[in-house]
Amino acid sequence: MTDAGFPIWWYVAPTIINTFLESYDFSGKTVIPFATSGGSGMGKTEAVLHALCPDSVNWKSGKMLNGYDRAQMEAWVRTLA
Ligand SMILES: Cc1cc2nc3c(=O)[nH]c(=O)nc-3n(C[C@H](O)[C@H](O)[C@H](O)COP(=O)(O)O)c2cc1C
Repeated sequence: MTDAGFPIWWYVAPTIINTFLESYDFSGKTVIPFATSGGSGMGKTEAVLHALCPDSVNWKSGKMLNGYDRAQMEAWVRTLA
């Protein structure tokens, strides 16, 4: 399982995240994006990133973690198992 975390920049992920997803083989892997922002949601971020992965990727819907403390993040991660 790969958790891909990033800040939202200009309503999308920073382009280095695109490069990251293009640089490794995520075939058959589970990818779950999470992000922080100044208030924006994910918008089309997930669709853009998902399209960079092979068809066999197990893409799971991501989450905005604005304001989450450690305990809240851990609780979210536990729901993914
Ligand atoms: C270049 C840049 C672009 C940003 N664009 C957005 C945006 O479109 N929407 C938004 O809500 N926040 C935006 N932000 C705020 C960041 O998402 C926010 O600062 C970040 O998630 C918090 O992580 P940090 O503490 O590492 O900066 C932007 C920040 C930067 C530096």
